[in-house]
Amino acid sequence: MIDPDQLRTRAAAVFDRLREDQARESAAVAREQPESADETKPGTDPPFDEPVVLPTLDEQRDDRPRPPLPRVMAVANQKGGVGKTTTAVNLGAALAELGYRVLVVDLDPQGNATTGLGINSRNLDATIYDVLLHDVPMEDAIEPTSLRNLFVVPATIHLAGAEIELVPAFSRELRLRKAIELVTDDFDYILIDCPPSLGLLTVNGLAAATEVVVPIQCEYYALEGLGQLLRNVNLVQTNLNPRLEVTTIVLTMYDARTRLAEQVAREVRQHFGAKVCRHMVPRTVRLSEAPSFGQPIILFDSSSRGATAYRELAKEVSGGAAQRVG
Ligand SMILES: Nc1ncnc2c1ncn2[C@@H]1O[C@H](COP(=O)(O)OP(=O)(O)OP(=O)(O)O)[C@@H](O)[C@H]1O
Ligand SMILES: [Mg+2]
Repeated sequence: MIDPDQLRTRAAAVFDRLREDQARESAAVAREQPESADETKPGTDPPFDEPVVLPTLDEQRDDRPRPPLPRVMAVANQKGGVGKTTTAVNLGAALAELGYRVLVVDLDPQGNATTGLGINSRNLDATIYDVLLHDVPMEDAIEPTSLRNLFVVPATIHLAGAEIELVPAFSRELRLRKAIELVTDDFDYILIDCPPSLGLLTVNGLAAATEVVVPIQCEYYALEGLGQLLRNVNLVQTNLNPRLEVTTIVLTMYDARTRLAEQVAREVRQHFGAKVCRHMVPRTVRLSEAPSFGQPIILFDSSSRGATAYRELAKEVSGGAAQRVG
């Protein structure tokens, strides 16, 4: 049993260290990238007409071991707009299409995964806020979606208060884990869509998961802040959740026309090796249109490049493991 007082002290230390790290990292970035250095600014990429030919990764052997089902995966990156929600929704949908039972947990007050899955937040009895703050069982907050096998625990803007309201709460870092534990057996995959911050909500997401999925946008500054995320994962691993591991890096918004995207992809592969998914998600307008219709891309435009990419990604992530429930 973890002693809650000890946990609270440890968690306080975690946050202090995080704040210090963040301040140091921001200072270092500011020093390394002076405003006036034009060549380091986005948008000054040399024009590049020819498509970049990537290494034919399909020829590489993919013998990564896949963790057993059920898998609880936190989709996290404190950088905003890198494709966390798009990946949680569409990877979730593609896994559901493969026959797995999938739950997407929206842990972001923006509620983008909720609306992106067609849930109208006005008609909800319970949301993730009630689960985290008012001990409402997770089961009561689960909503079906238009895709068979795909379910969501919705979030609304009320969740914005949770970062503050959770502070004095008992075992505040483990609230989500405890709630998820009671429904884990009903699903093959639980994907937690984390907000773009490293606050208490994301800590809850990381404490509840066994795996971290990190979407990385193939753009300038893509790797900035990644060290901070990995340090955070390590701190949660050491203090709250020893099973936690970064297993999956997804390259998003890949634009084969820019040299930069290819460089970012190569650099990320050098750092993370086999954790980087071989199938990258291309930048496509259809993927950005789908959420406003409340549909995952495989329903919105089943034959689009985005749909194909997330289907391939789902096959790669699952490794073809046999469904456990359903
Ligand atoms: N592959 C893609 N091609 C084109 N647009 C994309 C792609 N992936 C995501 N987008 C769009 O980029 C924006 C940011 O994506 P998304 O919301 O998934 O990022 P996020 O990391 O969840 O953002 P936040 O940090 O705000 O939660 C959205 O408008 C989304 O529709
Ligand atoms: Mg999001």
